[in-house]
Amino acid sequence: MNTGFADLAQLAAAVRDCRRCPLAGLRTLAVPGEGPTQAEILLIGEGPGQQEDRQGRPFVGASGHLLQKLLAGVGLDRSQVFITNVVKCRPPNNRDPLPVELAACAPFLDNQVTLIDPLILITLGRFSLAHFLGPGARITQVHGRPTRLGDRLLLPMFHPAAALRNPQWQQALEADFAQLPGLLAAARRSRPPRPDNFTQLSLF
Ligand code: URA
Repeated sequence: MNTGFADLAQLAAAVRDCRRCPLAGLRTLAVPGEGPTQAEILLIGEGPGQQEDRQGRPFVGASGHLLQKLLAGVGLDRSQVFITNVVKCRPPNNRDPLPVELAACAPFLDNQVTLIDPLILITLGRFSLAHFLGPGARITQVHGRPTRLGDRLLLPMFHPAAALRNPQWQQALEADFAQLPGLLAAARRSRPPRPDNFTQLSLF
Protein backbone atom coordinates (compact mmCIF):
# COMPACT_ATOMS: atom_id res chain seq x y z
CA MET A 1 0.00 0.00 0.00
CA ASN A 2 1.11 3.52 -0.71
CA THR A 3 -0.21 6.98 0.27
CA GLY A 4 -0.05 8.02 -3.38
CA PHE A 5 1.78 11.34 -3.07
CA ALA A 6 3.56 12.47 -6.22
CA ASP A 7 6.50 14.08 -4.44
CA LEU A 8 8.39 13.88 -1.18
CA ALA A 9 7.60 17.42 -0.05
CA GLN A 10 3.84 16.76 -0.23
CA LEU A 11 4.33 13.48 1.57
CA ALA A 12 6.38 15.16 4.34
CA ALA A 13 3.66 17.82 4.79
CA ALA A 14 1.04 15.06 5.13
CA VAL A 15 3.18 13.24 7.72
CA ARG A 16 3.52 16.45 9.75
CA ASP A 17 -0.30 16.82 9.80
CA CYS A 18 -1.04 13.10 10.12
CA ARG A 19 -3.70 11.87 12.58
CA ARG A 20 -3.89 8.26 11.38
CA CYS A 21 -3.03 6.76 14.78
CA PRO A 22 -2.92 7.71 18.47
CA LEU A 23 0.81 8.61 18.31
CA ALA A 24 -0.31 11.87 16.65
CA GLY A 25 -1.69 13.08 19.97
CA LEU A 26 1.54 12.31 21.83
CA ARG A 27 4.20 13.72 19.52
CA THR A 28 5.93 17.09 19.63
CA LEU A 29 6.94 16.90 15.94
CA ALA A 30 6.42 14.16 13.38
CA VAL A 31 9.61 13.05 11.61
CA PRO A 32 9.02 12.39 7.89
CA GLY A 33 12.69 11.74 7.09
CA GLU A 34 15.32 13.64 5.13
CA GLY A 35 17.82 13.30 2.33
CA PRO A 36 18.21 13.70 -1.42
CA THR A 37 15.04 12.97 -3.40
CA GLN A 38 16.95 10.54 -5.63
CA ALA A 39 19.19 8.99 -2.97
CA GLU A 40 20.85 5.74 -4.04
CA ILE A 41 20.71 4.50 -0.44
CA LEU A 42 17.62 4.63 1.81
CA LEU A 43 18.15 3.86 5.51
CA ILE A 44 15.10 2.94 7.58
CA GLY A 45 15.09 2.95 11.37
CA GLU A 46 12.34 2.14 13.85
CA GLY A 47 10.81 5.40 15.08
CA PRO A 48 11.81 8.81 16.42
CA GLY A 49 13.32 9.03 19.90
CA GLN A 50 13.24 12.01 22.25
CA GLN A 51 15.68 14.19 20.31
CA GLU A 52 14.07 13.37 16.98
CA ASP A 53 10.61 14.20 18.37
CA ARG A 54 11.91 17.59 19.54
CA GLN A 55 13.73 18.45 16.31
CA GLY A 56 11.52 16.79 13.69
CA ARG A 57 14.60 15.12 12.13
CA PRO A 58 15.61 11.43 12.08
CA PHE A 59 18.62 10.01 13.90
CA VAL A 60 19.87 13.17 15.64
CA GLY A 61 20.53 11.58 19.06
CA ALA A 62 23.06 8.99 20.24
CA SER A 63 22.04 6.43 17.59
CA GLY A 64 22.41 9.13 14.96
CA HIS A 65 25.98 9.87 16.04
CA LEU A 66 26.88 6.21 15.62
CA LEU A 67 25.09 6.08 12.28
CA GLN A 68 27.05 9.11 11.09
CA LYS A 69 30.30 7.43 12.15
CA LEU A 70 29.38 4.23 10.30
CA LEU A 71 28.53 6.19 7.16
CA ALA A 72 31.80 8.14 7.41
CA GLY A 73 33.64 4.80 7.65
CA VAL A 74 32.58 4.07 4.05
CA GLY A 75 33.14 7.61 2.82
CA LEU A 76 29.55 8.80 3.09
CA ASP A 77 28.03 11.84 4.70
CA ARG A 78 24.46 11.62 6.00
CA SER A 79 23.46 14.36 3.54
CA GLN A 80 24.09 11.86 0.70
CA VAL A 81 21.59 9.23 1.87
CA PHE A 82 17.88 9.35 2.68
CA ILE A 83 17.07 8.51 6.31
CA THR A 84 13.59 7.71 7.61
CA ASN A 85 11.74 5.40 10.02
CA VAL A 86 8.91 2.87 9.88
CA VAL A 87 6.85 5.00 12.25
CA LYS A 88 7.12 8.76 11.86
CA CYS A 89 6.00 9.74 15.40
CA ARG A 90 7.66 8.88 18.69
CA PRO A 91 6.18 5.97 20.64
CA PRO A 92 5.96 7.06 24.30
CA ASN A 93 9.13 6.27 26.29
CA ASN A 94 10.60 4.71 23.13
CA ARG A 95 8.45 1.60 23.50
CA ASP A 96 8.11 -0.73 20.51
CA PRO A 97 5.67 0.53 17.88
CA LEU A 98 2.30 -1.26 18.10
CA PRO A 99 0.83 -3.17 15.14
CA VAL A 100 -1.88 -0.51 14.68
CA GLU A 101 0.80 2.23 14.52
CA LEU A 102 2.97 0.26 12.10
CA ALA A 103 -0.04 -0.41 9.87
CA ALA A 104 -1.13 3.24 9.90
CA CYS A 105 2.33 4.50 8.96
CA ALA A 106 3.40 1.81 6.46
CA PRO A 107 1.80 3.49 3.40
CA PHE A 108 4.03 6.56 3.94
CA LEU A 109 7.16 4.38 3.90
CA ASP A 110 6.01 2.48 0.81
CA ASN A 111 5.35 5.81 -0.92
CA GLN A 112 8.85 7.05 0.05
CA VAL A 113 10.45 3.90 -1.38
CA THR A 114 8.57 4.36 -4.65
CA LEU A 115 9.41 8.06 -4.98
CA ILE A 116 13.09 7.83 -3.98
CA ASP A 117 13.55 4.60 -5.94
CA PRO A 118 16.87 3.74 -4.23
CA LEU A 119 19.31 1.08 -5.36
CA ILE A 120 19.85 -0.13 -1.80
CA LEU A 121 17.47 -0.27 1.16
CA ILE A 122 19.13 -0.63 4.54
CA THR A 123 16.84 -1.73 7.35
CA LEU A 124 18.09 -0.81 10.83
CA GLY A 125 16.58 -3.13 13.41
CA ARG A 126 13.77 -5.67 13.43
CA PHE A 127 10.77 -3.45 12.73
CA SER A 128 11.99 -2.11 9.41
CA LEU A 129 13.26 -5.61 8.55
CA ALA A 130 9.76 -7.02 9.22
CA HIS A 131 8.20 -4.34 7.00
CA PHE A 132 10.03 -5.77 3.99
CA LEU A 133 10.63 -9.44 4.84
CA GLY A 134 7.73 -10.21 7.17
CA PRO A 135 7.63 -11.07 10.89
CA GLY A 136 9.49 -14.36 10.44
CA ALA A 137 12.83 -12.80 9.45
CA ARG A 138 15.39 -13.02 12.25
CA ILE A 139 17.85 -10.14 12.33
CA THR A 140 20.57 -12.24 13.97
CA GLN A 141 20.40 -14.59 10.97
CA VAL A 142 19.90 -12.20 8.06
CA HIS A 143 21.91 -9.09 8.98
CA GLY A 144 24.63 -8.36 6.44
CA ARG A 145 23.04 -10.65 3.84
CA PRO A 146 21.88 -8.68 0.82
CA THR A 147 18.54 -9.83 -0.62
CA ARG A 148 17.08 -8.83 -3.97
CA LEU A 149 13.73 -6.99 -3.73
CA GLY A 150 12.60 -6.37 -7.29
CA ASP A 151 15.27 -4.19 -8.86
CA ARG A 152 16.81 -3.14 -5.53
CA LEU A 153 18.92 -4.71 -2.84
CA LEU A 154 17.80 -4.99 0.74
CA LEU A 155 20.64 -5.05 3.26
CA PRO A 156 19.37 -5.82 6.78
CA MET A 157 21.43 -4.46 9.69
CA PHE A 158 21.24 -4.22 13.46
CA HIS A 159 19.82 -1.01 14.88
CA PRO A 160 22.55 1.43 16.04
CA ALA A 161 20.84 1.69 19.47
CA ALA A 162 21.25 -2.08 19.91
CA ALA A 163 24.90 -1.78 18.87
CA LEU A 164 25.43 0.94 21.48
CA ARG A 165 24.27 -1.56 24.11
CA ASN A 166 26.25 -4.51 22.76
CA PRO A 167 29.84 -4.15 21.42
CA GLN A 168 29.53 -7.43 19.52
CA TRP A 169 26.67 -6.02 17.48
CA GLN A 170 28.65 -2.84 16.88
CA GLN A 171 31.36 -4.97 15.23
CA ALA A 172 28.69 -6.70 13.14
CA LEU A 173 27.27 -3.33 12.13
CA GLU A 174 30.72 -2.11 11.04
CA ALA A 175 31.28 -5.30 9.02
CA ASP A 176 27.85 -4.94 7.38
CA PHE A 177 28.54 -1.30 6.47
CA ALA A 178 31.90 -2.31 4.98
CA GLN A 179 29.99 -4.19 2.27
CA LEU A 180 28.26 -1.04 1.03
CA PRO A 181 30.83 0.25 -1.52
CA GLY A 182 30.97 -3.13 -3.29
CA LEU A 183 27.21 -3.61 -3.20
CA LEU A 184 26.57 -0.11 -4.53
CA ALA A 185 29.00 -0.65 -7.41
CA ALA A 186 27.29 -3.95 -8.28
CA ALA A 187 23.80 -2.42 -7.96
CA ARG A 188 24.73 0.40 -10.34
CA ARG A 189 25.96 -2.10 -12.90
CA SER A 190 22.72 -4.05 -12.73
CA ARG A 191 20.41 -1.05 -13.21
CA PRO A 192 20.61 1.57 -15.96
CA PRO A 193 21.94 4.98 -14.85
CA ARG A 194 19.47 7.61 -13.66
CA PRO A 195 18.42 10.42 -15.93
CA ASP A 196 19.37 14.13 -16.10
CA ASN A 197 20.77 15.87 -13.05
CA PHE A 198 21.48 12.80 -10.91
CA THR A 199 24.87 12.83 -9.14
CA GLN A 200 26.48 9.49 -8.28
CA LEU A 201 27.80 8.99 -4.79
CA SER A 202 31.52 8.50 -4.45
CA LEU A 203 32.54 6.09 -1.74
CA PHE A 204 35.93 4.93 -0.54
N1 URA B 1 16.05 5.44 16.44
C1 URA B 1 15.34 5.25 15.31
O1 URA B 1 14.96 4.14 14.97
N2 URA B 1 15.08 6.30 14.57
C2 URA B 1 15.47 7.53 14.85
O2 URA B 1 15.19 8.46 14.09
C3 URA B 1 16.23 7.71 16.04
C4 URA B 1 16.50 6.64 16.81
